[in-house]
Formats: sequence, C-alpha cells, structure tokens
Amino acid sequence: SAGAASSTAVAAPVVPVADVPKDVTVLFGSQTGNAHGLAKKLAQQLTTQGFDVTLSSMGDYKTNNLKKVRNLFILASTQGEGDPPDNAIPFYEFLHSKRAPQLAETKFAVLGLGDTSYEFFCQTGKDFDKRLEELGAERIVPRADCDVDFEEQAGEWMAQVLTALGEASAASAVAVAPQATASVTEGASSYSRTHPFPAEVLENLNLNGRGSDQETRHVELSLEGSGLQYEPGDSLGVYPQNHPQLVEDILQTTGWNGDETITLNKNGDTATVRDALLHHYEITVLTKPLLEKVAGLADNEQLDALLEEGREQDLRAYLQGRDLLDLIQDYGLGSIPADELLSLLRKIPARLYSISSSFKASPDEVHLTVRKVEYEQHGRQRYGVCSVHLAERLEAGDTLPVYIQHNDNFKLPHDASTPIIMIGPGTGVAPFRSFIAEREETGAEGKSWLFFGDRRFATDFLYQTEWQRWLKDGVLTRMDVAFSRDSDQKVYVQHRMLERSRELYEWLQEGAVLYVCGDEKNMANDVHLTLEQILIQEGNMSQEAAAEYLSTMLQQKRYQRDVY
Ligand code: 2AM
Repeated sequence: SAGAASSTAVAAPVVPVADVPKDVTVLFGSQTGNAHGLAKKLAQQLTTQGFDVTLSSMGDYKTNNLKKVRNLFILASTQGEGDPPDNAIPFYEFLHSKRAPQLAETKFAVLGLGDTSYEFFCQTGKDFDKRLEELGAERIVPRADCDVDFEEQAGEWMAQVLTALGEASAASAVAVAPQATASVTEGASSYSRTHPFPAEVLENLNLNGRGSDQETRHVELSLEGSGLQYEPGDSLGVYPQNHPQLVEDILQTTGWNGDETITLNKNGDTATVRDALLHHYEITVLTKPLLEKVAGLADNEQLDALLEEGREQDLRAYLQGRDLLDLIQDYGLGSIPADELLSLLRKIPARLYSISSSFKASPDEVHLTVRKVEYEQHGRQRYGVCSVHLAERLEAGDTLPVYIQHNDNFKLPHDASTPIIMIGPGTGVAPFRSFIAEREETGAEGKSWLFFGDRRFATDFLYQTEWQRWLKDGVLTRMDVAFSRDSDQKVYVQHRMLERSRELYEWLQEGAVLYVCGDEKNMANDVHLTLEQILIQEGNMSQEAAAEYLSTMLQQKRYQRDVY
C-alpha cells in the first residue's frame, strides 16, 4: 500500500490522492469518560485534517468492520486489577480470540489511561498494543501509558499520531485549513478538569442520625454562572485540600519552611511550601515511580534495596496505605530540600462522585452524597482526603473547585416508559436520587424499583423522607431495604432481591434496565452472582445461559454499573 512507503529522502512518485487511505477509526474503552473525551478530541483534530473519521465506543463497535480499517487508534482505560472497562470487554475478548481478523494492512497506535498507584498500570492499553501487533498491524506511534494526570502526555501522543498520519499521506494530502467552526459548542462551558469552576457551597449536612457510627455528607453546590450542566448518571470531579494536620506533620518532620515560595510547574506558577502541600500535590498515595525518583535523590541503601528486582511483593506491601510522611520518616528524607522532593510528586487528582441531584429539578445546583472515610493504619490515623475535607472543613459560603465528568455508561433509558431497577446500598444510592428526581420533574411514566441497604434503619436510611414521598406520589413504584446490622444475621440488598426473585425476573423480561451503584469488590460482585441465580431459578436457565443473558444485557446497556 502507498502511505508509509514514500519517504522524503527519495524522489518518490507523487501518490495519487485516491491511493492514500483517509479512513480512520478511533475506538475508545472508557469507564469514567476520560478516554472518551480524548477520543473525541483526536477525532475532531483528524476531521479538521481532512480524514474520514469513525468514532465509536468499543461497546457499540461492529467488529465485522475491523478488517476493512486502514488506520486504527485505540484509547483505553484500565480498571482496578488490570481489566478493561465493562463495556469494552466484548471487543477486548473478540480481539484476543481466534475470530479476530489479520490486520496486515492496518496502521495503529494505542493510548492507555491508568494510575501508577495500581500494580497493573495501563494493562488494557498494553494488551491492545501487543495484540494488534500480533495480528500483523503496523504501529505508527509508540504506545503512551498515561498516569492520572494525563493531559500533557496524551496531547503529545495525539500530536505524534497527526504527524505520522500526515507523513503517510504527505505526498497527496491537501493542507486543510483548520475550520474555525469545528469546535463543539453544545451547551459548552469553559470550565473543565483542567480549569475547574469554583462552586459555592449552599448546604452541607450530615445525613446520618445521632448515634450512627458513620457520617455521610449531603453537599449542595451552586453552578450558577458556570454554564455547567449534567444529566443523571454523570459525576462531579472535586479538587480537595489535603489534611492540614498531615501537612503540618510533614513540615515538622522535615524542618522545611512552610512560608518559602517554590515553583510548582513548567508554567512557572508559584506557591508557598505549605500551600503546595495543601492544594497542589498528592501526598497521601505512594507509587513505585515516585519511590524510584526519590531513590535517585536520596542515596539511601534501604530504599534502593526495596526497589531491587525480586522484592516486588515487599514493595507492594510497603506502598499499601502509606503516605508521604511515612516515606519521609521511614527513609530519613528530611534533608532533601522541599522544592526537590515536591517536584517529584503527582498533582493532586480530582475525586469523582456520582451526582445525586437532577439538574432539571434543581437548576444551577449539584448535590453530592459522600461518606466520610477515616481509619487507623500503620499506627496512625488516616483521613480520606476529599470526604474529610467535605465533612470537617467546608461550610456554606466556601467554594470548591469542580467540573462535570459525563458518564455515557450510566444513563436513564431514552424511553421514559421503560421500567428501571436500581440497586444502590450506602452512598451507591446517590445517582438514583438523581434518576427519580429527574423522572418526577419530567413526568416519566416508567415503573421504578429501588433496592437500598445500609447498616441501621434508625440512623442510616439515607434520604428516607424523600423516598417515602416519591413512593407515595408513585414516582417510585417499589422499594426494598436491607439493614445489615439491625439483626444478628447480615441482611444485604441481594438477599432482598432473592426474596423478590419472581417479580424481579418479570421486570427483566418486560425490558427493565438494571443499574448497580456502589462498592465494587464485594457488593457489585455478589449482586451479579445473585442475578445469575435469579435467572437460573426463575428463567429455568443453565448457569451458562444465565451468564450469557447478563452479558447480553451489559452489551445492550440494559445492565449498567457505576462501581468503585
Ligand atoms: P455491613 O457493613 O454491615 O457488612 C452499605 O455500606 C451497606 O452495604 C452496609 O449495610 C454494608 O453492610 C453492606 N454490604 C457490605 N458488604 C456487602 C456485600 N458484599 N453485598 C451487599 N452489601 C454489602
């Protein structure tokens, strides 16, 4: 094929336009929406360059088309233990199966999104990159493995892709002037992840009753003047402050002068050491790349030893649950100057929370439902950065930097008459408050069924009066609750589901969409197994057929999960 063969050094014959493949397919596998956002950006840039771009979620992509694709770009995030995002799994499995086509005519590049604090960093991106090569495709740009703070690296990767494609078709490509109208403006706000909106706090309440062993904050924020909008199922990104006590302990241990001014980034922005620790850097999570960089500065034999090959398990155990103060104390890093050590840290990442309000029902507001996280580990009290900030140091009138993170993977059905089943124990109930408020506001007719669970009825029934009113008004059709610590035996949402298995199966057969939100490791997995059990029991299915039924539901977006 023409493209890459032509080199500038040789007086190559001019390749006719028609011979240069201008088709480009951009596929994304996105959980929280970051890969989706980047894919859109790449698609836009390629369109501006005159390419004929197909942009698709892996979940919606017809794999039959793959063999015809000449230029393929994959942007994929990685879940906890190195897994692809839920809706990318069928595509991932197809590509890794014998059914995958040979791709000798295809050029490709992969961008992975991940988090260096996880062991299987960017694993999904790595898998795609390796597999496409195995299938004979030609890599035209090296893979980028991006950490939480992905913007810069992703931007460089995109520039490389554009250059590589441009070179491939240089002989014939007509320079297309960027179209001024190309930018997407649908209700656009100038506020984003990299430029958050300072939202004013309107209210901040504890939802748990007196005597509860938990604290769950209901925080109402104003979006007035921001131009920001959202749909039920979307998330809010929040930039928190680190705990002032942890910051003071670090200053004390190191002897750093908190008032000294340091440079924060390449742009030359500055802050005092104290403010840098409070607002700008991640100080509660340790990663292997950080330890490697610190080892380069520290000249500490013990730290070097921990990073040696063969010590992976010890390293993992050390990183688990430790923070910057531990690292400084354990390896005597106090003599490293503040600016040197801080320059190695990651920027403090935003925390994502499922929004618990409906924009239509509460215009210009956004509500969060956040459980305070606090525990003791490695001999010291540990504080969840964002939840403790919200619980202890945020009052009405204060501002909080926020942005909207759209989530296409968790959406109400387009057809307002479609029944919905919502499973959301604990703060997993947040998006369902948004769903029901939206359905009330828009007068949706579809049936709805909520399964909620928490520790105790008397103190932990989040938004109890709202659910009861919605039940009375018929906006919520059914509600089943499971309070796990009111009896000797634990009762969970999945036990309630099983008790109602016949009706639940009937709702599914009627085409209900089922949503699960909340804890991933235990709850979401147990709920999945319970769904299988219900299908086996009520639908007379084999175990295999039940698994197939659920995977079809996932693919058709009739089973959606927002788990963390
Ligand atoms: P527990 O803490 O008493 O065990 C919200 O956190 C609720 O989810 C709590 O009632 C909690 O019960 C419960 N929960 C814990 N593990 C669960 C699981 N595997 N499946 C469903 N609910 C669970």
